[in-house]
Amino acid sequence: MSRIFISRIIPAPGLTLIKEHFPHFDLWTADLPPSRAELIERSRGVDGLLCLLTDKVDGELMDAIGPQLKVISSMSVGVDHIDVAAATARGIPVGNTPGVLTDATADQTFALLLAAARRITEGERFLRAGKWVTWSPSLLLGADLVGATLGIVGFGRIGQAVAKRAQGFDLHVIYHDPTAQPAYNTQPVDLDTLLRESDFVSIHVPLNSETKRLVNAEFLAKMKPNAVLVNAARGGILDQTALYHALKSGQIFAAALDVTDPEPLPMDSPLLELENCLIVPHLGSASKKTRDMMSLLAAQNLVAGLKGKRLPNCFNPQVYG
Ligand code: DGY
Repeated sequence: MSRIFISRIIPAPGLTLIKEHFPHFDLWTADLPPSRAELIERSRGVDGLLCLLTDKVDGELMDAIGPQLKVISSMSVGVDHIDVAAATARGIPVGNTPGVLTDATADQTFALLLAAARRITEGERFLRAGKWVTWSPSLLLGADLVGATLGIVGFGRIGQAVAKRAQGFDLHVIYHDPTAQPAYNTQPVDLDTLLRESDFVSIHVPLNSETKRLVNAEFLAKMKPNAVLVNAARGGILDQTALYHALKSGQIFAAALDVTDPEPLPMDSPLLELENCLIVPHLGSASKKTRDMMSLLAAQNLVAGLKGKRLPNCFNPQVYG
């Protein structure tokens, strides 16, 4: 009998599929993720681990689980919480959930972009604080989208879905991604050109050793003073101290973040003092349908791995030789 640990309650479609194939599994039912010690303890000896992006899955954990571990399936497209090289070295396939969250994340990116451009959350805070005394020609003026340039850093599935949406807003779209072909009337450019020309800069690269703190003081200094930065990728891509200074000094106009480093963002983060920094708690894929699909894909990967089949969405296909 296969032993399975699922590190949080996932949406019903995924759990139902797992139950159909493996009626007995261990499920972490608390709202908060297991601590490191709890994760090690509960997953020791399992054949399959279904984890979330809140679980750090490294070589130490894999060794604690044991050599019988057949599959690591994450209910996420990003796998920066997993040491994929360590899994590959141990011959363990790692599953993720690409594709099904592309539209939800692109929608969220656009929601953030518009909200930061038009100062929506700032305006709501202003109103709730009782500061709205009259309509004013100069109250909370924001940025226009029509005719402005959107620079997309990372032109994979989500970056392209953002470009597709940008057509409807009459944005001119450029992107930086040495590996991607143009799509949706976009032009590839080098990063310096993108930062020099863009009124909106949206980040869509995965977090890895090359992109960690990509958005640092130097990057921000190359942006236009009217520019809006959007990050719906990973918090670790951004240097938050550098962003604080760029926003505080008016070096850039505004930022909208779906992700932070760490998560949750500590309540004493200086970013929270700034009116021109909008932050939401990692909600890019947070729609009912999307999360249902993510759970299903994660379950399919888990089931396939446990049955010794190729994972439908395998991040390290090298394990199959
Ligand atoms: C992912 O799947 O990596 C996303 O960040 C979840 O929203």
